[in-house]
Amino acid sequence: MEERELEVVPGLAGIPAAESAISFIDGEKGILEYRGIPVEVLTEKSNFLEVSYLLIFGKLPTQEEVNKFKTDINFHSRLKLKIVRMMEHLPENGHPMEYLQSVSSAMGMYYPAKNVLDTDVRYWSIVRLIAKLPTIVASSNRLRHGDAPLQPNNDLSFAANFYYMLFERVPDPLTEKILDVMLILHADHTMNASTFSARVVGSTLADPYTIVASAIGTLSGPLHGGANEEVIHMLEEIGSKEDVRPYIEKKLEKKEKIMGVGHRIYKTKDPRAIILQTFAHQLFESNASKKGKVLEIAEEVEKVVHEKLGHKKIYPNVDFYSGIVFQGLGIPTDLFTPIFAMGRVTGWLAHWLEQLKTNKIYRPDQKYIGLHNQPYIPIDDRN
Ligand SMILES: CC(C)(COP(=O)(O)OP(=O)(O)OC[C@H]1O[C@@H](n2cnc3c(N)ncnc32)[C@H](O)[C@@H]1OP(=O)(O)O)[C@@H](O)C(=O)NCCC(=O)NCCS
Repeated sequence: MEERELEVVPGLAGIPAAESAISFIDGEKGILEYRGIPVEVLTEKSNFLEVSYLLIFGKLPTQEEVNKFKTDINFHSRLKLKIVRMMEHLPENGHPMEYLQSVSSAMGMYYPAKNVLDTDVRYWSIVRLIAKLPTIVASSNRLRHGDAPLQPNNDLSFAANFYYMLFERVPDPLTEKILDVMLILHADHTMNASTFSARVVGSTLADPYTIVASAIGTLSGPLHGGANEEVIHMLEEIGSKEDVRPYIEKKLEKKEKIMGVGHRIYKTKDPRAIILQTFAHQLFESNASKKGKVLEIAEEVEKVVHEKLGHKKIYPNVDFYSGIVFQGLGIPTDLFTPIFAMGRVTGWLAHWLEQLKTNKIYRPDQKYIGLHNQPYIPIDDRN
């Protein structure tokens, strides 16, 4: 049997999976834009909810539009008692990403959104998902440690409220700003694995809760969102600046990957890593003695990696510095990726809406390399 000649591109690298007007990366120059606006400008002048509006609805909101969006989000930030009860029964040693995925999926049963062609259904599920993810993350963390979840404090900003629900205290202005920047920087990043997953599931006209649950699952892998946790484990394992070089050399000898460096698209330093590195310095300077050592080790890792892998254009990606900044803020390591998801949900939802505009179900091809016309061997004759 003749197979059609097909070229398989591993990881679909370089294959456009859709036309998109949401975010743009120039991997050689280190540029990232949302709807044409550089992320550096957005992290300086905007805030996460305004950026979410920009990504999802395609334009910067007017004051009236942003006020309504914020009011709607605040109104939907609480969790139903039944959802909290459900979370209480999940295993305490479950990963917060597993909580987040399970609860996002279950939300589809409480807020039916099957008619994805209905504009109202779309709007209110977008609002609910953005609003409730932080409450789920904070509540799952508290429940896993034996504490009662806290109700959202809607007098606070989106970022500050998340911090409040986690720690039962209001963050200082620098902490609030850094958390907000963190959400902005994770909000979208072109056709990455979880966004592709969201578009594939969206293309089947599945409901948005299913789409987000699928994308959260995709994000949980260490080669995607999970890398920031791995970076912290690596820096802790290294322990001191002097031990960086032998550690990196040994890893490379064993052909193991260094976590938090390298990127499919960026062939220079990830612009998000540059922004976060600056904030890491501000954070540790304001809080001198505490975690500065981790930043010192990290910067040495960056130096040695540049020396050893610079010729392969391997530079720090966002996960390299996001883990360090999260740790500096006192955020538990296993919440790093769930917070990434709290930001990225806006990108997933923006891609979902864009996918629906010109939808065609994803159904790629394959190159079959198996056998044909094989005999059925009776069980007693098999070895
Ligand atoms: C992100 C990642 C999966 C991109 O992979 P990719 O685009 O498929 O790149 P490749 O794996 O083809 O890498 C190209 C070369 O650089 C090397 N390389 C890439 N990332 C590396 C890393 N983190 N450590 C050491 N070497 C690395 C590869 O071994 C390969 O070398 P070779 O050409 O000699 O075989 C990869 O860089 C990685 O695993 N990084 C660590 C995990 C991480 O930080 N993920 C978060 C991404 S935001």
